[in-house]
Amino acid sequence: MAELESEETAVEIDGEISGSEVPEAEPRPDIEESKGKGDKGNKVKMSFSQRYASRMLKLSKPKEMKIMLPKEQAMFEEKGKSLKITPVPKISEKNVREIEVITTLEDTSYVRINYDTRANEYLYEAIEPPLSEDEQNVVMVLKENLVDSVKRIDATSKKEKVEYLRNMADALLNDMGIRLTPVAKERVYYYVLRDFVGYNALEVAMSDPSVEDISCDGMGVPIFIYHRKYGSIRSNLVFTNHRELDSFVVWLAQICGKHISVANPMLDATMPDGSRLQATLGTHVTKKGSSFTIRRFRENPFTPLDLIKFKTMSTEMMAYMWISIQYGSSALVCGGTASGKTTTLNATLLFIPPQMKIVSIEDTRELNLPHENWIPSLTRSGFGAKNLITGKAPGEVDMFDLLKAAMRQRPQYVMVGEVRGAEAYVVFQAMATGKTSYSTFHADDVQAMIHRMENEPINLPRALICALNMVVLQAQVKVGTKMTRRVKGIHEIVGLDPESNEIITNAAYTWNPADDTFNYSGHSYIYEKVMIANNWTPRDMEHEVKRRVEILTYMRKVGITAYKDVARIVSAYYDHPEELMEEVKEGLARPDEAGAGAAL
Ligand SMILES: Nc1ncnc2c1ncn2[C@@H]1O[C@H](COP(=O)(O)OP(=O)(O)OP(=O)(O)O)[C@@H](O)[C@H]1O
Ligand SMILES: [Mg+2]
Repeated sequence: MAELESEETAVEIDGEISGSEVPEAEPRPDIEESKGKGDKGNKVKMSFSQRYASRMLKLSKPKEMKIMLPKEQAMFEEKGKSLKITPVPKISEKNVREIEVITTLEDTSYVRINYDTRANEYLYEAIEPPLSEDEQNVVMVLKENLVDSVKRIDATSKKEKVEYLRNMADALLNDMGIRLTPVAKERVYYYVLRDFVGYNALEVAMSDPSVEDISCDGMGVPIFIYHRKYGSIRSNLVFTNHRELDSFVVWLAQICGKHISVANPMLDATMPDGSRLQATLGTHVTKKGSSFTIRRFRENPFTPLDLIKFKTMSTEMMAYMWISIQYGSSALVCGGTASGKTTTLNATLLFIPPQMKIVSIEDTRELNLPHENWIPSLTRSGFGAKNLITGKAPGEVDMFDLLKAAMRQRPQYVMVGEVRGAEAYVVFQAMATGKTSYSTFHADDVQAMIHRMENEPINLPRALICALNMVVLQAQVKVGTKMTRRVKGIHEIVGLDPESNEIITNAAYTWNPADDTFNYSGHSYIYEKVMIANNWTPRDMEHEVKRRVEILTYMRKVGITAYKDVARIVSAYYDHPEELMEEVKEGLARPDEAGAGAAL
């Protein structure tokens, strides 16, 4: 230690690898310590962190410690050619070829989709800035010093937080006498910001809009990404030790404002950006170690127009959904896991007239509506042990409680994220008492839905099921070679057959897998109901359907797909239909290019 504190001692960097989340770099002597004044060749090798510790001991009179560019890099920069923050590395394996590269952060991070011709699989490669050993140490030192400041940040937006942290880091580097080249600085700051205001090792995947799900099955297993275009693919991200993975899962729980522990090793939570997190901790419940699945939230939810564009539904079906929802038909969106039930529900609920009072009830927040008169409510898990009689922990608020409360708020529309148990009874009661209700349910077809509803644990009487007006069947299907989502059918619940006591249904729309088209049965009981309610003739009804189809076609033509813009047009139709129809007719009559953007 005596030697370290000597002013005469010159120090050379002999870094040690730290911060396991920082990827290994190609050998690149990027940072260099300037020799102390009065260097007499008395060199002592020590690590950057040791030197940093010694510097901290001498806080009263800090010694200048410079970290500079290696010569080649300096020359490179002098010639006006700036080094790239993140070079996209060459692919070394012969059997792997690049499919596409997507930028997730300008000049700094990328996603490369590769195809392995031997294994016949796609690979997801997250590319982040490479760090030299010394840069890794600078990252570590900055993080250690900034950790307290991060807790104190009261900035609300991410931009403000980034700005604050950059300023703090600038000041710290200055105090420590560390000079970094602009490129090295960006590389170092990337990791500091990524770990403090981003999603740490998952930052790249979390900023890629094509990622639907991220799942980590345990230690040493590559993280799998569910990609919009390529399906479930292996990534180059992997946790290589239990400690690192466990602390990552604890950190994920913390950023969701929740707690995960050995005593309570399972967690369901909503992440700050709205994504859904399911996590387990340790090897008690998941043998490969902690695991997590993140279902990504879309900031701009899919709109009816997106669903038409993806051919999930036809324009006519969407017009049908529009009219049904506007005139208060209750629906259940049924399908398998991740078939797009919630997405379809959320997109079509945009058609609820804007002034209606809506209450939604969910376990994790997924629904996202443009309506102002909307109370989004969430269930809450309780604290401590469950009561043996009620089966609930103190303070627990479940869907059943929320639904009961919702009924007293006199909503016109009730939405329940997903029905699974006792709450189904209240949802169907609500439908039976004239409140339009929507929910999703796990079942592959109408028969399976009825069967599940009538049996344990839901036990719904058949007569109550008839309060439902329609079932939208959603599925993930293969069209050609690609997996996509389709509404396989819209089935109307007509009523109970008085003789056989069977539920009568009408498949208003069905999907034809042979040619990927949708067929209309030619008759709709919902349209019939709407006609009676409005005193319309069949011609009036036809006219109304045609108008909705025209509005949707018009929006598609002029490229309106953003959630807010679609909501604005829908609301314009409710407010001043004739004016909007004029605009629609004009827009549709115009040649293609001229129409673009006209409605906005
Ligand atoms: N029609 C669609 N076209 C393309 N992608 C879709 C479509 N519908 C949903 N997705 C995507 O599929 C994923 C799963 O969607 P969603 O959460 O709606 O499914 P879900 O059936 O409600 O799942 P769960 O069974 O977990 O409730 C999301 O990432 C979503 O963006
Ligand atoms: Mg869902």
